[in-house]
Amino acid sequence: MIAIIGGSGLTHLSNLDIARREVVRTPYGEPSGALQFGHLGEQQTIFIARHGYGHTIPPHEVNYRANIWALKQAGAEAIISVASVGGIPDHLGPGTILVPDQIIDYTWGRASTFFEGGDSPVVHVDFTEPYDPGLRQQILRAAREAGEAVVDGATYAATQGPRLETAAEVNRLARDGAHVVGMTGMPEAALAREVEIPYAAIQVVANHAAGRGNSTHGIPMHEIEDTLREAMARVRKILQHLCASSA
Ligand code: HPA
Repeated sequence: MIAIIGGSGLTHLSNLDIARREVVRTPYGEPSGALQFGHLGEQQTIFIARHGYGHTIPPHEVNYRANIWALKQAGAEAIISVASVGGIPDHLGPGTILVPDQIIDYTWGRASTFFEGGDSPVVHVDFTEPYDPGLRQQILRAAREAGEAVVDGATYAATQGPRLETAAEVNRLARDGAHVVGMTGMPEAALAREVEIPYAAIQVVANHAAGRGNSTHGIPMHEIEDTLREAMARVRKILQHLCASSA
């Protein structure tokens, strides 16, 4: 069963035929909202809105552990994260869809592991390739089938938020080798790895990152909503093909 974690711009899946909702309690507290079970094409799918269905939970307050735990308990065999990001090089402009292959984590103070406390042994999971290569290929194939252009590979910088970056911070991210910046990719990806669920991401560039492109003197926030509405429709199409081909 495939699980989809929807971010900004994707708080619901209009093509998901919802059969039931389930409120799950976990040892780590409450997930962002009820899990929605349904079908996308032939494939059984679970959907959860990362920021809550009313989009009220900021990136640093998302209970990433509860979300991943709930999906594991529910039987998720793969997780697709959908998120919006800022594009750093000029060619990753608003509306670009990409499937990242690397992460740099700049977040802090988030509960970022299941392996802590009590007598549980310390475990160091391998994270050389933070996104599951097989699941990435499935997404890329689905995008080709859907006729949607996606960028294969990018380094994602996870920042703390909720404020956006300064231009100097974005310059530093670029020097570090990052191509896109967002606030929710970590610790989500690492937690999925800890519970051994293949995890990959589809990201939509909502804006040029601070100081870049048409964001030289500020990010034009009013453009973001339209960009996301249009691009998330393409993401839904890709997800539909993904679910049809892995049913
Ligand atoms: N920075 C961080 N997160 C984001 C951005 C950004 O520019 N755009 C969308 N999510």
